[in-house]
Amino acid sequence: MIGRLNHVAIAVPDLAAATARYRDALGARVTAPQALAEHGVTVVFVELPNTKVELLEPLGEASPIARFLEKNPEGGVHHICYEVEDIIAARDQMKAMGARVLGDGEPRIGAHGKPVIFLHPKDFCGALTELEQV
Ligand code: CO
Repeated sequence: MIGRLNHVAIAVPDLAAATARYRDALGARVTAPQALAEHGVTVVFVELPNTKVELLEPLGEASPIARFLEKNPEGGVHHICYEVEDIIAARDQMKAMGARVLGDGEPRIGAHGKPVIFLHPKDFCGALTELEQV
């Protein structure tokens, strides 16, 4: 069922500094920051040959990464995202296997305009896991 690694998301307290680190130290290709108000983050994409890293900075009061950064003030890996062909089939399989789907269990439109679900970290080796239909 599981497909490509779509992205690894890293929450950062200072997006400009994080972007400069990836660009200047690692020589990575980075995009301009994009404010995604409905997702409560500003994102920079680090474009790699085989996948992406997303640098996420909180945007607004109710940012979903604010609490994570309180616990991890230097930043840290927030989630990983795998591609699936059918998000409903994937969701149903996860539930059948006893994994917890976050929120109301229905896919929502993620930061890339595609349907996603998030799976509880305790059911996936301690890592918040996103599945995205591509
Ligand atoms: Co993501």
